[in-house]
Amino acid sequence: MISCTASAPGKCILVGEHAVVYGTKAIVTALNLRAFSSIEIISDKIIDIEAIDFQLQKKFPFIKETMLDKKFLPLKPIVNCCQIMINKFKLNKGMKLKIRSAIPSSAGLGSSAAVSVATVKAIESVFELNLTNDEISQIAFEVEKIVHTRPSGIDNFICTHGGCIQYSKKEQIKKIELPKNFSLIICNSEIPRNTGVLVEKVAKLHNKFPNITEKIFDAINLLSIKALESLKKGDLVELGEIFNLNQGLLEALGVSTAILSKFINIAKENGAYGAKLTGAGGGGCIIAISPSSKQKNIVEALKKIGGVPILTEFSQDGVKVEDLK
Ligand code: MEV
Repeated sequence: MISCTASAPGKCILVGEHAVVYGTKAIVTALNLRAFSSIEIISDKIIDIEAIDFQLQKKFPFIKETMLDKKFLPLKPIVNCCQIMINKFKLNKGMKLKIRSAIPSSAGLGSSAAVSVATVKAIESVFELNLTNDEISQIAFEVEKIVHTRPSGIDNFICTHGGCIQYSKKEQIKKIELPKNFSLIICNSEIPRNTGVLVEKVAKLHNKFPNITEKIFDAINLLSIKALESLKKGDLVELGEIFNLNQGLLEALGVSTAILSKFINIAKENGAYGAKLTGAGGGGCIIAISPSSKQKNIVEALKKIGGVPILTEFSQDGVKVEDLK
């Protein structure tokens, strides 16, 4: 076997971003938008990467750390991922990779983790390394740590395992079944942002006001616990209230923006039970929970103010091999 395509889902954090970095609970679900990584073994000892969505192609050295100029920065997680695999498993053949993704990048929907997870899976499949999903997630976590210095591990975990879960760094993962009437609107501001920068912004606030920010993290933790109950009961009105409270706390942490607030207010004015940013904030996406009868109105209203709604379905599937030859 010399080639493999693997895919991994994007993700959407329902409750608990940022605080999860400090060990609290968060609720996250995999989306049906996927990233695909195709790999072929080649005779030259190089890493040849083509990222179709970025229209970028470049050959990289096999092992050596590489300084990337700005244009090629989107390729960094993929190069890191390959080099980590080469070093860890003493791989001695070159690889040609093609990456494509239906997950909008820099939008808080887990595109970089999904690409890393799919790439680890594709490499482990062609080199027959027999890694478990937990090992795949752990390697993608190492890549996440290079890309942004303080990841909680939530993105690589959900992109590997799929489904909907309550996640925390230190506790058992709880699987959640989403209620049948669960209908979520995701809307992209298309303002790109960098997760690492926003995580550092919160870290600075935490250094300056540790006692106060920890109270905020504790409150977010309580919201995640409560949200699990609301989901179990199928109480979407209560979940909406939790979204609103969580958004207030994210604003207190300084990661929301005027545009995101505008989207959130429009969603609520048009019938959403609640809305909040999702992911790191600073741009990217908001989510809104509503009765299904109001969804169309909300989507239209968001479009009118420049939002880009994303069709969402949730995915039980985590990382998987699509094709192996
Ligand atoms: C990023 O998807 C979510 C953050 O909480 C960072 C992390 O958990 O690694 C902002």
